[in-house]
Formats: sequence, structure tokens, C-alpha cells
Amino acid sequence: AESEKHPSALLLELCGLLQAEVPHYDWVGFYFRNGNKEELKLGPYVGDPTDHTIIPFGKGICGQVAVSNSNFVVPDVKAQDNYIACSIHVKAEIVVPIFVGGENIGQIDIDSETADPFTDADIELLEGVAAAVATLLESQGISDPAAEL
Ligand code: SME
Repeated sequence: AESEKHPSALLLELCGLLQAEVPHYDWVGFYFRNGNKEELKLGPYVGDPTDHTIIPFGKGICGQVAVSNSNFVVPDVKAQDNYIACSIHVKAEIVVPIFVGGENIGQIDIDSETADPFTDADIELLEGVAAAVATLLESQGISDPAAEL
């Protein structure tokens, strides 16, 4: 049963499902606030391995979302000054924060090798995913996902 699966396995499956179902999703993963530190830690993901397993708050697209608490849609990564490149093939990125109890505890991050691919439909989908992940974390009593997932 799904309930017997570890939440990290569920999140990994969710990444794989999104990558398989949406043609313009190439790298799909989670970053979570690393305990009390002002940094993000890489969680479950699918796609090319990344060196950026820790991202300080404020750095890159992900680090900016950690402090802005807002979605960040990047149609063209080359136009961004504050950007951390994980792969030379990536053309666009979208990051949607995950809120538990009103707190920004992490994010879903998607890289695309397609130029300017994201629309309101992606935002709607990913806000739904973020809300579902928040519910999963809450229901499983996972208060420190960076340590537990
Ligand atoms: N591009 C991100 C870094 C994470 S990789 O996309 C997996 C950023 O600028 O924050």
C-alpha cells in the first residue's frame, strides 16, 4: 500500500511521474530548508546529477525563492544574473515554494531544455503538487524534511 512507502520514495516517484508526463520537464527535484541553517539541501530528484546539493539562501533561482516565498518562472536562464547552472543543456527553470503551516520549508524545482516553455498551466500544476507534498509532510509528521528525506 502507498501508506507503507517511505515518503522519500513517494517524492521520488512524483518527480519521475512529472518528468515522464510533461515533455518540457527534464530535471525535476526538491530542495528543502536545511534545519535552522540559511541554506537549501537537495532532496529527491530525477535527471542529471547536480553538484549543487547545498544552496545558500539568496543564491541562484532556488535561493531567491527561499527568501521571496514566491514562484519564480525563468523563461531564459541566460538572462538571469543570479543563476546557478547545473547543466549546459538547461534553457528555462521554474521554482515553486512549499508551505507548511504558512512557512516556506522548501520547493519544487524544474529545469527545462526547451526555451520559454512554462505557462500558467505549469504554475497551477506545480502549486497543486506543492500543496500535496505539504499535506504529505504534515500527515507523516516530517518537520525537518532535509534531515528525514
Ligand atoms: N538552477 C538552480 C540550481 C539548482 S539546479 O537547477 C538543479 C538555481 O539557479 O538555483
